[in-house]
Amino acid sequence: ISVKELLQSQQPEASVCVRGWVRSIRRGKGVAFVTLNDGSCFASLQIVLVPELENYEVASKVGTGACLVVVGELVASPAAGQAWEVQARTIEIVGAADENYPLQKKRHSLEYLRSIAHLRPRSNTFGAVFRMRSKLAFAVHQFFQQRDFVYVQTPIITANDCEGAGEMFRVSTLDPIHPPLDDGQVDWKQDFFGERTGLTVSGQLQGELFATAFSDIYTFGPTFRAENSNTSRHAAEFWMIEPEIAFADLDDNCQLGEDFLRYLVTYALENCQEDLHFFNQRVEKGLIEKLESLAKAEFRTISYTEAVEQLQKKGQSFEFPVAWGHDLQSEHERYLTEKVFNGPVFVTNYPKQIKAFYMRMNDDQKTVAAMDLLVPRVGEIIGGSQREERFDVLQARMEAQGIAQGDMDWYLDIRRWGTCPHAGFGLGFERLLMYLTGMENIRDVIPFPRTPGHAQF
Ligand code: 4AD
Ligand code: MG
Repeated sequence: ISVKELLQSQQPEASVCVRGWVRSIRRGKGVAFVTLNDGSCFASLQIVLVPELENYEVASKVGTGACLVVVGELVASPAAGQAWEVQARTIEIVGAADENYPLQKKRHSLEYLRSIAHLRPRSNTFGAVFRMRSKLAFAVHQFFQQRDFVYVQTPIITANDCEGAGEMFRVSTLDPIHPPLDDGQVDWKQDFFGERTGLTVSGQLQGELFATAFSDIYTFGPTFRAENSNTSRHAAEFWMIEPEIAFADLDDNCQLGEDFLRYLVTYALENCQEDLHFFNQRVEKGLIEKLESLAKAEFRTISYTEAVEQLQKKGQSFEFPVAWGHDLQSEHERYLTEKVFNGPVFVTNYPKQIKAFYMRMNDDQKTVAAMDLLVPRVGEIIGGSQREERFDVLQARMEAQGIAQGDMDWYLDIRRWGTCPHAGFGLGFERLLMYLTGMENIRDVIPFPRTPGHAQF
């Protein structure tokens, strides 16, 4: 039986068996207290050890981190803050741990815990983070499945650089030493796939194909970018959720994004109370209140052009200059959500030169039908667009951006036969978790973070 179930008991039990890992141990005169955690919930269960135990001497000296199987009686606990405790009859030490165990009972810094990413799931903070991550992954599927979206698994190895930003990790079976891996010299025909391939930066292009067959689809999988991820919001490997909807324009897309985020926030408030309570107290004060207000808030929308005007009008000094045609930096995004709107805001219709080739050209010929959702503290959490469904316009755009049509003919095919207006977006799963937990660094919401120089574990 799990610690969670035991702590929710309605009555005492003569005999229970519980398994878990020691969080702390306290010895008194003729009695010892162990708190045991099995990850099923935030709280640990108190185990009372008395000298009558056959192996009392050994068991009462067990180390933090040890793995135990305890059989005993579940009784009402006299201690404050816990309803139940277990009076042990037998204790089996399944796996001992000595005083070198790196997770002793004290407050460790997040940096230190990152350096022991193989053990940090056993800490309070990361127990809470990864339980929430699991719950929210379920909520993602529930949201789309309730709406009859088809879940499509897009490939991880691909020849296409969807975002066209040249940030793909290369996948190759060629001998990396000879010849030198300089694109100009490598004969990719010799490689496993007979062409140059990499790890996907987005499942969108394949998602679009499925949307023109199933109408409404979503992907949910790992995504890879060899970009500068020495920031607190970028990881080289992250998870993205990408819905794609047929017969939809930019407004429909924003509406879906708003409904989706609201659903996830509400889900967390209703299903992760114990863990959220911890984050609210120890990580970000007022977090729950903020989430509650977001669940009700009206999402604002402004155009990129208006956003630039807002930023310039404020006469703020930013590290990066604000000028029409330049991408918004995270300091600008945060200023807009935290200072100007004090809540979530969609920024739409960006200049075409700073967005990807597939976005639909607006009538002004200068901007494209893009949308980014910005939220306080985290900045961009969603990026999406209405797609260019007109064959000729798309072809011209690809040509202008130097994208070889031959490589992308399959993508143009949907515009050749039975094209339709469609739109979609990507939500970064880790950005969502940062938002929901209050954690400041993306490395602390993904089990084994991948950033420059870090691929251990
Ligand atoms: O804005 P992005 O690059 O958009 C796309 O990839 C589109 N193909 C999505 C689509 O329309 N289907 O990325 C989408 C989101 C961002 O808003 C951000 O939340 C997250 O993915 N993201 C990252 N998260 C962590 N680390 C990184 N390096 C990220 N890059 C993007
Ligand atoms: Mg983006």
